[in-house]
Amino acid sequence: MATLYDGKMATIYDAMYQTFVDYDEEYNFYNTLIQEYNCKTVLEIGSGTGNLAKRFQENNQNYTGLDYSKSMIAIAEERNQDCHFILGDMRNFNLEQKVDSIIITGRSTSYLISNEDVNETFASLHNNITNDGVIIFDFIDANRFIPYANENPLIIHKAVHEGISYLRESTWETTSQENFMLDWIAKYYIIQEQEKELIATDFSTVRVFTLNEIQLFLYLNKFEIIKTIDRKTYAYDTYVIVAKKRS
Ligand SMILES: C[S@@+](CC[C@H](N)C(=O)[O-])C[C@H]1O[C@@H](n2cnc3c(N)ncnc32)[C@H](O)[C@@H]1O
Repeated sequence: MATLYDGKMATIYDAMYQTFVDYDEEYNFYNTLIQEYNCKTVLEIGSGTGNLAKRFQENNQNYTGLDYSKSMIAIAEERNQDCHFILGDMRNFNLEQKVDSIIITGRSTSYLISNEDVNETFASLHNNITNDGVIIFDFIDANRFIPYANENPLIIHKAVHEGISYLRESTWETTSQENFMLDWIAKYYIIQEQEKELIATDFSTVRVFTLNEIQLFLYLNKFEIIKTIDRKTYAYDTYVIVAKKRS
């Protein structure tokens, strides 16, 4: 697991990502798709610190969150006292009742690094949605990301949250691993009086995908794509896929 989602890092994640991501826009984007396909129940995988949960709850929607990090769920539960969160792994979970939509947001698919991870996840999604249900997820586009990371060896993101200035320096090793897997080192700093103070370092292995790979993984797991959206999310280019069970 990436250290980013553990212990005190979860709090830093929560602070920084609220300035990176426009969660109102994110909610509107996913909710529009959920409504377009008439879904009444939604499971969000990689629900993180519950920023989308908050919006689903405010709109009285039937929402459940699932995440495999206890620290992230703890923050999400504090933010959304009446919301239901499940501690679980997207590669292997069983809901008591199937849902009409499953969303995987915020490029959480990047943590599915082996082909087995991807296949197990799609198989779990297949088991947990209704026959007319849809899955909606995003992924970082390898064809655009890898050249970008090669040309920009140090990628800097700045964020201000509750008066505190944060800085993240990311370096990506793009060539050492198979399957378009990347080693990501992110250093997080607080900036005070022009000085930067290192508060945390995250090492993780993540994976970016080509659209063709995703199409094939879905086909092999009995899904068909009904919509592909080319979407810029914070910092990187992603695709969002809407798929349903293949008949
Ligand atoms: C980049 S964060 C996105 C969080 C949230 N969707 C957002 O946009 O703020 C990725 C989240 O996916 C979770 N995650 C990663 N791999 C997972 C897995 N196999 N099963 C469940 N959750 C996972 C992490 O714990 C983390 O909360």
